[in-house]
Amino acid sequence: MSGVGANLSVDAAFAAARERYARRNPGSRVAYENAVKAFPGGSTRSVLYFDPFPLTMVRGIEAELQDIDGHTYVDFVGEYSAGLFGHSDPVIKAAVIEALETGTVMASPTPAEVRLAEAVKARFPSMEYLRFCNSGTEANLMAIVTAMAFTGRRKILVFREAYHGGVLAFATGGKQINVPFDYVLADYNQVDETVAVIRSCAADLAAVIVEPILGAGGNIPGTPEFLGALRAECNRSGAVLIFDEVKTSRCGAGGIQGMLGIVPDMTTLGKYIGGGLPTGVFGGRSDIMAQFDPHGAHPIKHSGTFNNNQCSMMAGYAALTKVFTPAKAEEFARACERERQSIDAELSAKDVPMRLTGQGSLWTIHFSDYPIRAPKDIPPISKKLGQLFHMEMLLHSILVAARGDIFISLPVTKEQMRKLHGAILLFADEYRPMIARALSV
Ligand SMILES: Cc1ncc(COP(=O)(O)O)c(C=O)c1O
Repeated sequence: MSGVGANLSVDAAFAAARERYARRNPGSRVAYENAVKAFPGGSTRSVLYFDPFPLTMVRGIEAELQDIDGHTYVDFVGEYSAGLFGHSDPVIKAAVIEALETGTVMASPTPAEVRLAEAVKARFPSMEYLRFCNSGTEANLMAIVTAMAFTGRRKILVFREAYHGGVLAFATGGKQINVPFDYVLADYNQVDETVAVIRSCAADLAAVIVEPILGAGGNIPGTPEFLGALRAECNRSGAVLIFDEVKTSRCGAGGIQGMLGIVPDMTTLGKYIGGGLPTGVFGGRSDIMAQFDPHGAHPIKHSGTFNNNQCSMMAGYAALTKVFTPAKAEEFARACERERQSIDAELSAKDVPMRLTGQGSLWTIHFSDYPIRAPKDIPPISKKLGQLFHMEMLLHSILVAARGDIFISLPVTKEQMRKLHGAILLFADEYRPMIARALSV
């Protein structure tokens, strides 16, 4: 790091880091200038854009990525959790090759889709029936409309700062393109307020959709009391409780629902579930999902050309049964959680106002004097400090998400973990006075 950070303002430190970043990455700048000709603002995924321009990656191997300028990074973005298996898992590669060799677009049911469905059901018994789709966004859209059809109601309770997909985003900003459902909003982890909101519209409430760890809102774990209260209130009102475990399902063999023993009515999955290939899953109680049975009186139709794409189905099956087995999922979550707690404890011991929230392999860096238990606990300056942290990590050849998220993937080695650990503590040492000053304003 620069060695002068402590004396600068946050804005000056950020500007200086950005300048070093721009000088270090001329190839990515040129790639960005080319991309601008095709994409508005040079980006086809908003989450990947940051100023002055994002890095362009050209190759991945295990837990490393190489950019167009030839720098090698330890990848702690892990494709926002979809990259659980890293970039070159041989088992998944073999499954995809087998799929390519045996046919990928067959327009028929296949044994592969049933095998993957059985593997998912074995891990998530609350998904008595399920259906595949193409993404986490689609899985959540389908779960919501399924709940609306089942209950005959229209309102959907969502939590502020939650992200359930490109058209289901509830953070400040970015809501212009949300699907126009009849939303009711509440604050995450606020039990009394949420119970009151549910009771105020119980008769019209079709569903409550919640991520058991508020991911994009800062990897804030839902408390058992909060998630338990949602279960109880949905029982009372007849609303469908949807757990979006698109990301959190990796936090143990059976996701957070398995860990807490809270059984949702519906669950959505995505990201890593297709072995790193595009897939989404929605499913749940058999009486709710039976609406899709073509033999029913008024069956819901749900088609999708790529729902059972052979590459995704075969990669997903190999991933769940040979790589990320239930035992591996448990062991991995425990090992990652130990690391998170150890870094967080060292930050506390240094008395630097930085916190590493999250659970298992899903982490976020925040800047705060006090624990982060809800989005409202995150100080506004934390975001800017997070951007500086992001820049400094990139300058250290460590890839973290621009919003301060860190996702651990299976191939991360002990040495790579030590590198991350060391870089976080170095950042804390260098910028401690500046962070303390910024938080005190
Ligand atoms: C919790 C959660 N749900 C849903 C989604 C949407 O998944 P996808 O990007 O596959 O559409 C995401 C994506 O980040 C997510 O984090």
